[in-house]
Amino acid sequence: MRVPHCLEYRAYQQEGADLENYGEWAADQIEKVILAEGPDTVGGLCLEPVTAGGGVIVPPKGYWERVQEICKKYDILLHIDEVVCGVGRTGTWFGYQHYGIKPDMVTMAKGVASGYAAIACLVTTEEVFNMFKDNAADPMNYFRDISTFGGCTAGPAAAIENMRIIEDEDLLGNTAKMGDYMLDQLNALSEKHAVIGQARGKGLFLGAELVKDRTTREPMDEAKVQAVVRDCMEQGVIIGATNRSLPGLNNTLCFSPALIATKDDINQIVSAVDGALGRVFG
Ligand SMILES: Cc1ncc(COP(=O)(O)O)c(C=O)c1O
Repeated sequence: MRVPHCLEYRAYQQEGADLENYGEWAADQIEKVILAEGPDTVGGLCLEPVTAGGGVIVPPKGYWERVQEICKKYDILLHIDEVVCGVGRTGTWFGYQHYGIKPDMVTMAKGVASGYAAIACLVTTEEVFNMFKDNAADPMNYFRDISTFGGCTAGPAAAIENMRIIEDEDLLGNTAKMGDYMLDQLNALSEKHAVIGQARGKGLFLGAELVKDRTTREPMDEAKVQAVVRDCMEQGVIIGATNRSLPGLNNTLCFSPALIATKDDINQIVSAVDGALGRVFG
């Protein structure tokens, strides 16, 4: 089952949304789904700390506190998907650490070896792990993760080295600092280009939502958003855009610069976007 998003910029489009307490209201929509399905049928809730595919959705104030409360209330496991946010991207080891969340399970992949090796991990609390081995008499009663590449050492070796570098070079600190800098630059760019409805993000995980009109917030056409991505590519700067996760909202430019990015790198990215927006939208 899907649950509604918590994109505050578009809260006004959600029926009955409480714009004053949007974070809590958005979390309450999850509770409604749980109640409609029947709490006994819901084993877990899977959410990203900052949602990637929906357009870099930074959670509104009060959202995570309420989500955690709801999970506790109905005894539902909280599975945090850190595939994008995990291992430094938002300026902390894990995105959930910004929000005081206590997950039961965490999955991670892209940042684990910074893409230098194919490796993904699932980490659970002891309590969850022990659920898989609660009957010593049953030989099948353990956490069975049969894996084609089980025992291969290249992925874990790359991951450990990657994490050593992140620690030794204080790349979490750099990510937080450069992320703030880049968000400032994107906000400055939005003063020049009315097509930027909102710039948002956490650390070096940022988005710029493009709209046809700032008042109505009508989403920019996907083809035009893609034209911006293409123009940046022609300038040698790779950026992304939303991937059709929210119907009709394929209008957010996505940025994930390397955690080692310098101010010059950020300036180059922002200047490429500036040029592209000028060419595509005039
Ligand atoms: C947030 C998020 N979760 C999960 C996945 C799926 O990861 P995988 O391809 O490793 O199954 C992706 C893939 O991009 C993702 O972005």
